[in-house]
Amino acid sequence: MDKTKSIHLLNRAVADELQAVHQYMYFHFHLDDQGFQPLSLLLKQIAIQEMGHVELLAERILFLKGDVEMVPAGPVEKITDAEAILIKAMAMEEDGVRTYNEAALACAANADAASKQIFERLVQDEERHFDLFEKQHDNIKRFGLSYLALQSFGGGATTSAAPPAE
Ligand SMILES: [Fe+2]
Ligand SMILES: [Fe+2]
Repeated sequence: MDKTKSIHLLNRAVADELQAVHQYMYFHFHLDDQGFQPLSLLLKQIAIQEMGHVELLAERILFLKGDVEMVPAGPVEKITDAEAILIKAMAMEEDGVRTYNEAALACAANADAASKQIFERLVQDEERHFDLFEKQHDNIKRFGLSYLALQSFGGGATTSAAPPAE
C-alpha cells in the first residue's frame, strides 16, 4: 500500500466535506432568515453529518501517519433562493457520490481496504442526502414556494434527516 496516495485521497475528501459544511450552514442561515424553518433545519442537520465525515476521514489520515489539511475545496457560493439552494446541494451530493466511488476504486487498487470502506460509507450517506434534497426540490416543483411556507406552520416533520446508527 502506498500510504501517501491514500492520504492524498482522504485529504481531498476532507476539503470537499469542509466546503459542504460551510455551504450548507450558509444555506441554513438564509433559509432560516426567510422563515423556511424545516428546510433550514434539514440543511443544518446535513451540515453536521458532513462534519462527521471530516472526522471519519481525519481519523484514518492520522492512523496512516499523515496530517489533516483543514482547507475547504472552494469558497461559499452566495445562493439564497430556496430552489437554487436545493439544485446546488443536489449537484454537490452527486459530485460527492462520483468522486467517492472513484476514490473507493483507487483505494482498492492501492490495497487499502479500510480507506475503501470509509469511502463506500460516504457514498451511501451522500446518496441519502441527495435523496432528501431531491424530495424537497420535487415538492417545490409540484406545489411552488408556498410548499416551503406552509411546511413552516406546524408539522414539517417530513424533512427529518436522522443520521444512520454508528
Ligand atoms: Fe459528506
Ligand atoms: Fe452529503
